[in-house]
Amino acid sequence: MKKPSPLAFLKGAKQPVLTSDEVMTNQWVLITGSTSGIGLATAERFAQGHANLVLMGRNPDKLNQQKLDLKNRFAIEVKTYIADFSSLASLNKAIKKIKDDGVVLDVLINNAGVYSTKKILTRDQVELGLTVNHLASFHLTEQLQASMKKPGGRIIQVNSEGHRFSGFPILDPNFIKRRYTGLRSYGSSKTAQLHTVWALAPELKKQGITLVAMHPGEVKSNIGLNNGWLYRTFKRWFIGLMLKDVHRSSDALYYLANHPTVDEYAGHYFYLTSLSEVATHAQPSPYSHEVLRWTQQTIQRILSPNS
Ligand SMILES: NC(=O)c1ccc[n+]([C@@H]2O[C@H](COP(=O)([O-])OP(=O)(O)OC[C@H]3O[C@@H](n4cnc5c(N)ncnc54)[C@H](OP(=O)(O)O)[C@@H]3O)[C@@H](O)[C@H]2O)c1
Repeated sequence: MKKPSPLAFLKGAKQPVLTSDEVMTNQWVLITGSTSGIGLATAERFAQGHANLVLMGRNPDKLNQQKLDLKNRFAIEVKTYIADFSSLASLNKAIKKIKDDGVVLDVLINNAGVYSTKKILTRDQVELGLTVNHLASFHLTEQLQASMKKPGGRIIQVNSEGHRFSGFPILDPNFIKRRYTGLRSYGSSKTAQLHTVWALAPELKKQGITLVAMHPGEVKSNIGLNNGWLYRTFKRWFIGLMLKDVHRSSDALYYLANHPTVDEYAGHYFYLTSLSEVATHAQPSPYSHEVLRWTQQTIQRILSPNS
């Protein structure tokens, strides 16, 4: 097998972002983390395209405000569900409500994400980044398969070029042996997500659902602003100066959600709208199925601790 280029991201960054003029009237699109940054811009982009929205977030006030705003401006239907993705039990409650409401989803965009410079264990005793960035998005993907339109449903995992910062060792998910850093945690969680995309995509394809992963570009958002003043200053005054407008990401997500050609690329990774290569440690391999099994078992253990 040809080794992937470690500089693949440079190629991706140079490609133009493709856009779509499709109209999505009567379609339902679920977006997680819709209350800030990329998710906020993406909700607005789909509303402009006349899609109805299912918005999931942890902050009820922000969600209610967003719902009112989008309904008033775009005359679409909007449903909101509250869930803290650092708790799978909280996520499960929201999933149950979505299922009970019987919405058939055309598109699921797993966008919610976190970057933490400090190691934090959730109440479920799993590292925060791994929980929010990977376990929660995986659980939503598995649980909502039955609610997706078939054929024709699409699931997009908002991943990151940050997956290059670290592999995902199933024997040390919580950084007991590895030294924790924000970059490693972020990279680990995004690599875990990629492995499960490779392992799940063929199964979903058989059901008529296209699952892809994408890097949304390097754009201005609030990611990382939960950290201490030193990181926030670094982000605002150094990284921030190099970041692009967030509409690049929302345009790319709109394209990936509805452009007909994307159905040919189930189980692929896009840099915005260009096909791209992932790091060697994130390539599809038998290990991808081990990560899938680890993920399923971990979620099962968290949700039924006595099993
Ligand atoms: N910005 C970039 O350049 C970039 C680059 C590569 C990848 N990404 C990925 O893009 C995605 C969106 O990030 P962003 O840059 O738009 O960051 P952001 O502005 O911080 O938005 C993150 C969203 O995730 C939600 N979220 C975080 N923790 C949560 C939790 N425990 N429960 C529920 N929701 C939670 C946030 O909710 P609140 O509104 O309540 O805070 C927010 O809506 C992430 O997956 C990130 O890894 C971003």
